[in-house]
Amino acid sequence: MSDKVYVFDTTLRDGEQVPGCQLSTPEKIEIAKELEILGVDIIEAGFPISSPMDFNSVIEISKAVSEPTICALTRAVEKDIDFAADALKFAKHKRIHTGIGASDYHIKYKFRSNREGILERAIKATKYAKKYVEDVEFYCEDAGRADNEYLARMVEAVIAAGATVVNIPDTTGYCLPEEYGAKIKYLKDNVKDIDKAIISCHCHNDLGLATANTISGVLNGARQVEVTINGIGERAGNTSLEEVAMILQTHKDVDLHTNIQSNRIYALSLLVSKMMRMPVQPNKAIVGRNAFAHSSGIHQDGVIKHRESYEIMDPADVGVPQNSIILTARSGKAALKYHLERLNYDLSNERVEQVYEEFLKLADEKKDISDDDLIVLVDGKLPEGGFSFENVQLSYESNGQVTSTITMKVGSEEMTATATGEGSVEASYNAVDKIIGEKVNIDEFLVQSIGDRSDAGKVHVRVKYQEQMYIGFGVHQDVVIASIKAYIDAINKIASIKNKSLAGTV
Ligand code: KIV
Ligand code: ZN
Repeated sequence: MSDKVYVFDTTLRDGEQVPGCQLSTPEKIEIAKELEILGVDIIEAGFPISSPMDFNSVIEISKAVSEPTICALTRAVEKDIDFAADALKFAKHKRIHTGIGASDYHIKYKFRSNREGILERAIKATKYAKKYVEDVEFYCEDAGRADNEYLARMVEAVIAAGATVVNIPDTTGYCLPEEYGAKIKYLKDNVKDIDKAIISCHCHNDLGLATANTISGVLNGARQVEVTINGIGERAGNTSLEEVAMILQTHKDVDLHTNIQSNRIYALSLLVSKMMRMPVQPNKAIVGRNAFAHSSGIHQDGVIKHRESYEIMDPADVGVPQNSIILTARSGKAALKYHLERLNYDLSNERVEQVYEEFLKLADEKKDISDDDLIVLVDGKLPEGGFSFENVQLSYESNGQVTSTITMKVGSEEMTATATGEGSVEASYNAVDKIIGEKVNIDEFLVQSIGDRSDAGKVHVRVKYQEQMYIGFGVHQDVVIASIKAYIDAINKIASIKNKSLAGTV
């Protein structure tokens, strides 16, 4: 039997730290339930002392899932550990993840301390966490740039203090794969009782090496990988779950396995992208739109003759839909339902009827309907209490000024406002601001073309509200309408995170 590699998912902690990617507690619960079905072994559910919302999310996730271990992050600070233990009180399997900086950069400049002082704090925190739970993971932050000899002392000391997992993060994404693998081997060879703990890889992608480093760590004896869906995370992101899982599944020669049900990967990638408003780059390995798209004639011919000529994985193995059921204007409700279920939507029959009506209108305009289109069709109808876009009228003056009249709805209440601006998007955003009664600053605005028609636009807008970032997206054949929908989506996101309606005065 091959060795098992434990999958520790930190989408809801390291992934959620990305500005603009915050999730509400119900959204986190939905993702956690899907992670459980996917087969992850550990879910890092949050950093409880960081905010009441993180604390509450750890509590609610602990209640909602039972199979994976629920993990809560702390600093090497007793109060943090008290909070984590309290937040984990409902978890069936629980883990506290504590730690401190191990590189001289962290020791000297972040903690203004010395190696011995930090070692003492590491031991103390581990023993303190151990009073609450049996399963304690210790992270040696910035281990990637730490001196190996000192790192080995720290790892040995925390194992002696009771750590069951030792995490070796390449916090800054600095290491080369060979260097990171050698670090893990050094610990295997030089730390007394290393076999009493599992070594964990936690790599960041600043140089595009997170997956390579993680695999190198595993090949040198690590047996836990810390990953996120779509590789989201601080700066350039974390190691992506789907890449590591599929490398181990594809390379039978490595003789290692995970518990990941790979055919659930694609649906979860879409869910996380949709909830975090974080697009997946088209050429992203495994889950990108183009990951299995063959465009050159030679490749197409090769795949038709024998799939393996140009494909090392079967798209079905990661849940990427085969082309057998294509949605067009002639598709029936069964085909629509099949695709909605594949995308993890569990809709009432009444809601399927509504979506089907809208689907038929869109299918009349577009040759075939993509997953992106379906997501917008379903989520275009906004949650209770959220704003929905109804209508826009634009008029263009000869001096370049544009006047926009926007109608939006909250529940059954309709609100209309008119405003001017330098262009149609600016005028429309000013009109929306009048409706919500607040001015929200736009930080980033991106237009992408999707599908096979150049006029199908997807717009991402990142806004800043009370010093926090929120992202919204909208899709429509008309880019101005897509832009308005994206802005309204971001506003709804603010309302759902802040638990506060921005509904204002016209
Ligand atoms: O990157 C890192 O070092 C971390 C630790 C807190 C585990 O995220
Ligand atoms: Zn990290």
